[in-house]
Amino acid sequence: MIRFNQSHRNKRLALHYPSIHPDLKKYPGLMIQMLKFHKTLLDQGCWECQILCFPRYLCLLWVVRLDLYCLNISNGVCKETEYVEQMPMDITALKNGPPNFGAIVTGLDIVNVSDNDVQALEVAIDRYAVLIFPDQNVTDEQQYAFSSKFGTMEKATGDINQNSDRRLAMDINDISNLDKSGAILARNDRARLFGLGNMLWHSDSSFKTIPAKYSLLSARVIPDFGGNTEFADMRAAWSELDTEMQSECMDLVCVHSQLYSRGALGFEDFTEEEKLKWAPVKQPLVRQHPSTKLHSLFLSSHIGTIEGWPVPEARLLIRDLTEHATKPEFVFSHQWKRRDLVLWDNRVTMHRARRYDHTQKRDLRRTTVAGDARLLSA
Ligand code: OGA
Ligand code: MN
Repeated sequence: MIRFNQSHRNKRLALHYPSIHPDLKKYPGLMIQMLKFHKTLLDQGCWECQILCFPRYLCLLWVVRLDLYCLNISNGVCKETEYVEQMPMDITALKNGPPNFGAIVTGLDIVNVSDNDVQALEVAIDRYAVLIFPDQNVTDEQQYAFSSKFGTMEKATGDINQNSDRRLAMDINDISNLDKSGAILARNDRARLFGLGNMLWHSDSSFKTIPAKYSLLSARVIPDFGGNTEFADMRAAWSELDTEMQSECMDLVCVHSQLYSRGALGFEDFTEEEKLKWAPVKQPLVRQHPSTKLHSLFLSSHIGTIEGWPVPEARLLIRDLTEHATKPEFVFSHQWKRRDLVLWDNRVTMHRARRYDHTQKRDLRRTTVAGDARLLSA
């Protein structure tokens, strides 16, 4: 019995050779025959078909979804070839995380996106806050070009290495444990110790007067174990606060600086130039998303105090709120695969890196879309 689904005409021609049922691999002649048969169907425009039973070859049950790879058979040899057509973009919510938090985007090559794609992605970001794009083999320039479709770009002025000391251009945040030559940084290296600050929950560039809108992080090299990135939903964290706490937080103003987040880890050897560059900035503790109008807690490890509060009391409240906002029900953990690109909306999330073996390379690169405007008037 053969069933065709003609409605999938526009789908990418596909067949995944290694996914063929193991029983079939015992009969290579038969397999080639079946593959040829499929090729004929595909040539006729049947982009998806399921062979539930092949009566001439009893007991072989073979279900193939023709949407992964393109099949090319010549002289009885089967090999995978390039995709022939772009599958429509698909955005699917993550299954095991908090509701409406995190989604996977497939069927999109970020090097080749239309204005419609960008619009659809913006709608998805507003809903899911974090989007995962698997298998995007991009250069820094391609990542930057895709990122800049979402707004004005930030420079990497938050990185410890500036200009000639850098491994990467100022358009790219270097989220790696590598030096300029590509070697792994020594355990005590200043750049490595500064980078450990990414393991505290934060929102990118909350220490800038105009904090970041989106961050896009691309995994070029990942360690064998660990090094996940976790994300926490600050909209849910806000809406789950009791009303007394909400009204206490509503008009508070926090003071952010990288000097505070690094200081919390005991990293305090800043140069005078760094102290000036990362002078504290003020941000509201509660913010409202410009399009969804949802409120969220604007927390970050960069917060050092609350305006008008004694420092220890301020830090305690921020700790309490961070503990609340990063409870498992608001969090999911992304386990990186090489070439994943993850985009998040810093206005409604916090994130942090997890530990990994520092003797292994981890090379991720971040491009950052700037926020639209400052949140408090000067
Ligand atoms: C970042 C960041 C976390 C990580 O790129 O802004 O915090 O897992 N990264 O590397
Ligand atoms: Mn970050």
